[in-house]
Amino acid sequence: MVPRLSTTQDKFMHKVIFDTDPGIDDAMALLFLHKHPQIDLMGVTTVFGNAPIELTTRNALYLGEAWNIPAPVARGAGETFDPSRGGSYWPTTIHGENGIGDVAVPDVISRTADARPAYQFIIDMVRAHPGEITLIAVGRMTNLALVLKHDPDVAALVKDVIIMGGAFDMNGNVSPAAEANIHGDPEAADFVFTAPWRVTVVGLDVTMQTVMTSGFLADMVAAGPDEVKLLSDISQLYIEFYKQRVGDGMVVHDSCACVYLVRPDLFETRSGPIRVVCGGIADGQTIQKPDGRGFPPGHWDGHPSQLITTAVKSDGVLSVIRAALVEGKAA
Ligand code: BDR
Ligand code: CA
Repeated sequence: MVPRLSTTQDKFMHKVIFDTDPGIDDAMALLFLHKHPQIDLMGVTTVFGNAPIELTTRNALYLGEAWNIPAPVARGAGETFDPSRGGSYWPTTIHGENGIGDVAVPDVISRTADARPAYQFIIDMVRAHPGEITLIAVGRMTNLALVLKHDPDVAALVKDVIIMGGAFDMNGNVSPAAEANIHGDPEAADFVFTAPWRVTVVGLDVTMQTVMTSGFLADMVAAGPDEVKLLSDISQLYIEFYKQRVGDGMVVHDSCACVYLVRPDLFETRSGPIRVVCGGIADGQTIQKPDGRGFPPGHWDGHPSQLITTAVKSDGVLSVIRAALVEGKAA
């Protein structure tokens, strides 16, 4: 019998479910996960955030079709974990009215979403591949919180959880205290961070330093496959928004979390339990108690230590993105 060549390779393959609210930087992260040769994208689950759930799900289906991504899409939550929290606004000045930079999207998309809600899709996939799947969540934490609520034992079967969200040693981006993904559903995030699974939180502390200039993106379009042209079209509105904040270019928040999966060596981390402020003027603030620091008894006690990223080699992250998007290679 001819040996399966992929046996050795399998050891280096990362099985991923991508939980996302596309979303312009989400779109880049999705293409990265699809193109990276060491990533097996097993599914895409959607959540409300950058746009209502109808639009983020439509966008995930559209991008999947446009980029020939075989992974199924399952529609997730359209309201906060605690529905009584209520009230959402859509960041249309950043992501556009349609969530993906107001590029024209066909009226009819031939793909349809999986029949299961996102949390059930995640539960089923993780139970079918125990200990193998990494969840990368780059929107609100609502779907992950629903997984824990409906099937708490699944936490032990997830390989890793990587999250884009939070702001630890700096201000947030929707309030001085809070980052958008956490602020959008603080109760869900607190539930996810304190659950018995391994979480790494890639927050604004590193993502705000990771800026892809418009020239870098244009160069990828010139050198790369057609897929990158659509990504560039989608990204122009976002680049316009970020002009006031970073001068030129786009902050690649969600791709940073995906690059962490394959190149954790590009990041520095700090370990300790994380809590989220739920309510009041600091609603959505993420606070870590670093391991080894002594405090009187308090709200961080008895919760698992999780990792946050504190520093990044941003040029390295950009090179890893470029290699995957342009050449389909690992770097
Ligand atoms: C996060 O919020 C969303 O707007 C982005 O897609 C990213 O996930 C950054 O705060
Ligand atoms: Ca996002």
